[in-house]
Amino acid sequence: MTSASNNTGAVTSNSCGPLQGRVHVPGDKSISHRSLILGGLAIGQTRVTGLLEGEDVLCTAEAMRQMGANIEKVSPENWVINGVGVGALQEPTKVLEMGNSGTAARLLMGVVAGAPFNTYFAGDTSLHKRPMKRVATPLTKMGATITSRSGDRFPLCVTGHDLMPITYELPVASAQVKSCVLLAGLDTPGITTVIEPKPTRDHTENMLRHFGAEISVVTAADGSRVISYEGQQELTGADIIVPGDPSSAAFLAVAAAILPGSDVTIENVGLNPLRDGLFETLGEMGADIKIENIRNSGGEQVGDIRVKGGLLKGIEVPPERAISMIDEYPVLFVAAAFAHGSTVMKGLEELRVKESDRIAVMAAGLKACGVQLEELEDGLIVHGRAVPPKGGATVSTELDHRIAMSFLILGMASEKGVTVDDGSVMETSFPGFTTLMNNLGANIGRTNAP
Ligand code: S3P
Repeated sequence: MTSASNNTGAVTSNSCGPLQGRVHVPGDKSISHRSLILGGLAIGQTRVTGLLEGEDVLCTAEAMRQMGANIEKVSPENWVINGVGVGALQEPTKVLEMGNSGTAARLLMGVVAGAPFNTYFAGDTSLHKRPMKRVATPLTKMGATITSRSGDRFPLCVTGHDLMPITYELPVASAQVKSCVLLAGLDTPGITTVIEPKPTRDHTENMLRHFGAEISVVTAADGSRVISYEGQQELTGADIIVPGDPSSAAFLAVAAAILPGSDVTIENVGLNPLRDGLFETLGEMGADIKIENIRNSGGEQVGDIRVKGGLLKGIEVPPERAISMIDEYPVLFVAAAFAHGSTVMKGLEELRVKESDRIAVMAAGLKACGVQLEELEDGLIVHGRAVPPKGGATVSTELDHRIAMSFLILGMASEKGVTVDDGSVMETSFPGFTTLMNNLGANIGRTNAP
């Protein structure tokens, strides 16, 4: 997707002093997508405060509009959605453009699986490489038809049919796959059940309840969950307050932790216990990180995260924690590059099928910045030394927003700075990243800007 941001083209992050200040990060991406989808399927009005206005989420908004939902921004902070009702989507007259967003793609494939028409999906070159079999398999079992020239990748067409409920055990720990099946189950008569051996982010379940639906979640002694939903319940429009995205807050937390003398507070960050692994890990690495003012806001736990700069030490990150911080590994790799000693991060095979192969792309860029590491099939071992990495490289972002932001953070604390070849990718999840960082004391700008 093209972007009109100020970050079009190469962006350089120069070495800078400590960061100071209090900030808010943009709204949570996962909750924003789900607000638009469930609001668009509900009867009545849904008011959303703090929606993330990143390109990924705007793709979901446009797709839901195409299918009949009325979605409008009514003030700087507020969006209003008038939904069509479960089972009443209209046939889209255009291809649904999903841009860079795996979440939009996989959740919306579930939404249209039971609708009596063809829905055509396309995305950018990153999305066209990502595996869709993980959602095509359960949707096909339910009765939908998925057609793709490449077998299981985008672009593809979902032909909706009357669906049958299934019981589906997730072969990969993925909230996107879980949500796809549950969303397909919304208009399916009978009980759709998803079994997840390892619990993933539970925003879909929590938000379905918030829209007035009944959903059963049973957690077994070994932590596995059985989630059951009786289809054809009506959803009722609801008010939603979107908390700050912990995955965006992660960049600020790492930046403050690796820049000595920093003192940054990130206010109103979502702290869903299935999303907070990075903050726990930074604490174990010796970061001075405190979570203050913990409270409940709109059904989600939120808090203010205060991070001060200091010394980090290498640790072994428990692989079972990966699900609760899967999007945060690129920036954790950066933190590890500034830690004393080795940080071992394993159990990350899913990182190879994100917006880019995040293990390979991060390993290449870190090496180019002078970081010593070992690349594993399922992770990375980063050998931090007493001296910070030199930087000085130009890194290819491979259409991956989190790669871009991770290397700009590295540049801030390196000797020579770091350039990323395409800053526009940051618009997918974190509009205003460079301005926000510069207001705290960073020195990030377009490369060779006049
Ligand atoms: C998301 C789930 C995760 C995450 C993605 C958002 C969601 O993907 O990486 O950024 O909103 O459900 P997987 O479910 O593929 O792990």
